[in-house]
Amino acid sequence: MLPVLLPVLLLLPLPARPGGAAAGLGITARTLSPCYSADLRPASQRLVSAAGCTVLLTIPPLQVSRGVLWEYKAGLREGVIVSYALDGPANTSRPYKNRTRFNETDFSLQIVLQQGDDRLYRFRSESEATGWFQLRVVEPLSEPEIVGNSSVKAGGNTKLVCNVLEGRADLYWWKKNGELLLGSDHIQFVDNSTLCIVKASMNDSGYYACVVRNEVSQNETSFLLHVQNAANVVLPVILVCVLIGLLAGVFVWCRRRDRQCYNGCR
Ligand SMILES: *[C@@H]1O[C@H](CO)[C@@H](O)[C@H](O)[C@H]1NC(C)=O
Ligand SMILES: *[C@@H]1O[C@H](CO)[C@@H](O)[C@H](O)[C@H]1NC(C)=O
Ligand SMILES: *[C@@H]1O[C@H](CO)[C@@H](O)[C@H](O)[C@H]1NC(C)=O
Ligand SMILES: *[C@@H]1O[C@H](CO)[C@@H](O)[C@H](O)[C@H]1NC(C)=O
Ligand SMILES: *[C@@H]1O[C@H](CO)[C@@H](O)[C@H](O)[C@H]1NC(C)=O
Ligand SMILES: *[C@@H]1O[C@H](CO)[C@@H](O)[C@H](O)[C@H]1NC(C)=O
Ligand SMILES: *[C@@H]1O[C@H](CO)[C@@H](O)[C@H](O)[C@H]1NC(C)=O
Repeated sequence: MLPVLLPVLLLLPLPARPGGAAAGLGITARTLSPCYSADLRPASQRLVSAAGCTVLLTIPPLQVSRGVLWEYKAGLREGVIVSYALDGPANTSRPYKNRTRFNETDFSLQIVLQQGDDRLYRFRSESEATGWFQLRVVEPLSEPEIVGNSSVKAGGNTKLVCNVLEGRADLYWWKKNGELLLGSDHIQFVDNSTLCIVKASMNDSGYYACVVRNEVSQNETSFLLHVQNAANVVLPVILVCVLIGLLAGVFVWCRRRDRQCYNGCR
């Protein structure tokens, strides 16, 4: 049989099977190691994995006489990933060519995931088909970025904003010096990603970390916040005053040795 004819033959309606097509034949999928983001346990029906990781789709042992197909469905669009007639080479469609591996013995399929692979998959032979298997592809989170003023005056309000640069975070939380921060009148969380400190005090100085998480990853970054006590502002002013006073004193002392010094600062 010519490989070209295979898709045509497989497009013929499947024989009706009581209990639905998926009753006997199901896909099992798992993320292959190394993948530091996704769960490596096998799953049936639905798998969440990370972009850049490799997923292996397998089916139970099967007797096939003519040929098989792996197909995808994205919305209303369906397409063939790989078709294989037992007597010829496997035919992989272009978008999958350099990142899939089809095993001609057990009909399994390995895919190096991209963002666009978030869709449904199924396997079919001339007589049987699996149900649609859902693959969810999530982009791992890169280190977030904290934007804020690293030096604030005591008594003022300040905010730190945690920006996710790659991927989408489902959850945000904050830590101060390694400990989970809880909300209060003083510490407020706005729009999940923003931390507001109301009436900052010296006590609020420290390392603030923003932790972000999604289904496949967690990442964090930290930020050193320094709250300046009012004294830090007053002290230089006092020093300057004292210095001016001393200079004036010396000046006066030199000019009129017989007169007493006076201090310009109260
Ligand atoms: C391979 O598949 C593509 C589309 O899936 C088809 O156009 C092409 O003719 C096939 N080639 C062979 C050798 O079967
Ligand atoms: C496959 O090729 C495309 C471009 O043709 C490229 O963007 C992609 O990174 C390649 N994937 C792998 C796993 O080599
Ligand atoms: C294909 O699958 C068979 C049976 O599971 C296995 O022995 C073989 O190593 C696989 N081939 C490749 C290239 O992975
Ligand atoms: C956090 O993101 C950086 C890239 O910005 C990456 O190198 C690192 O592995 C990520 N950490 C985790 C725990 O995923
Ligand atoms: C940061 O806060 C300090 C003190 O409140 C202020 O003087 C400085 O202008 C602020 N810097 C920025 C970039 O907002
Ligand atoms: C922030 O949290 C609210 C619910 O608390 C949620 O509806 C919203 O989608 C979240 N936004 C982000 C960017 O996580
Ligand atoms: C400053 O922080 C310490 C512990 O972190 C706490 O015991 C103390 O009450 C705080 N002082 C003020 C003025 O908030």
